[in-house]
Amino acid sequence: MTQYRDTELNELLAQGRIPRHVAIIMDGNGRWARRRGMPRIAGHRAGVESVRRVVSACGDHGVEVLTLFAFSSENWKRPQQEVGLLMELFLTVLKKEVKKLHRNNVRLKVVGAREAFSEKLQERIRIAENLTRDNDGLTLVIAANYGGRWDVTQAARQLAEQVARGELKPEQIDERRLGEHLAVADLPEPDLFIRTGGEQRISNFLLWQLAYTELYFTDVLWPDFDREQFELALRSFAGRQRRFGRTGEQVERVAGA
Ligand code: FPP
Repeated sequence: MTQYRDTELNELLAQGRIPRHVAIIMDGNGRWARRRGMPRIAGHRAGVESVRRVVSACGDHGVEVLTLFAFSSENWKRPQQEVGLLMELFLTVLKKEVKKLHRNNVRLKVVGAREAFSEKLQERIRIAENLTRDNDGLTLVIAANYGGRWDVTQAARQLAEQVARGELKPEQIDERRLGEHLAVADLPEPDLFIRTGGEQRISNFLLWQLAYTELYFTDVLWPDFDREQFELALRSFAGRQRRFGRTGEQVERVAGA
């Protein structure tokens, strides 16, 4: 059975129907913990295990970029204790995992308003990014203190500053130029978006970049999201026809040409 599944996925890979970029909202850690009578942070800790599994599966299937929403601009509103414990967890994970990521040729990139984090955490992020910057395997993007609206706003501000300095005319601003100032400008747009935990929302994740992304929602809680669940999402993606505004007939003509 496993062998059959692997063959099928290999075929999809050969047909170029494996997403280049997968973006995930890892939801459901709190509920996973509560169902076990455990504190919420235990769910986040279990969530780290799912991160490991998905990173490894992405590497195996040839996904180029994996973006994980680890902490949103709105997550500061959570109880102070949970925020503090999450920050500690990020620090520990960065310290513990970065060498392993490096050995596996993973390039780590953190996007978001990182100046809000402690100096210690910012320093760890810098160390991890510098160590892995030349790796050419999977690019792992951690969105931390990130919000889609924040991203578009900071890009607009950079353009406005260029206009104010006389380096740019307002009429030169187009989608391409704005896109170049977004936090993940150098990466392909996500092909597949996954949200675990049952909610069907984007929650201020990559608003600009998700314009044409295939959306996949699952009730599975993030700590229970394993390789098999990830492969279900890949298979769902492979079965979809991406039209980018064209008609189905046009897409079929191009594919058949
Ligand atoms: C959402 O679940 C999850 C988070 C806000 C944190 C995600 C963090 C991790 C998985 C930890 C490790 C990640 C990295 C990349 C180091 P929730 O708390 O909203 O769950 P609930 O909806 O069940 O309450």
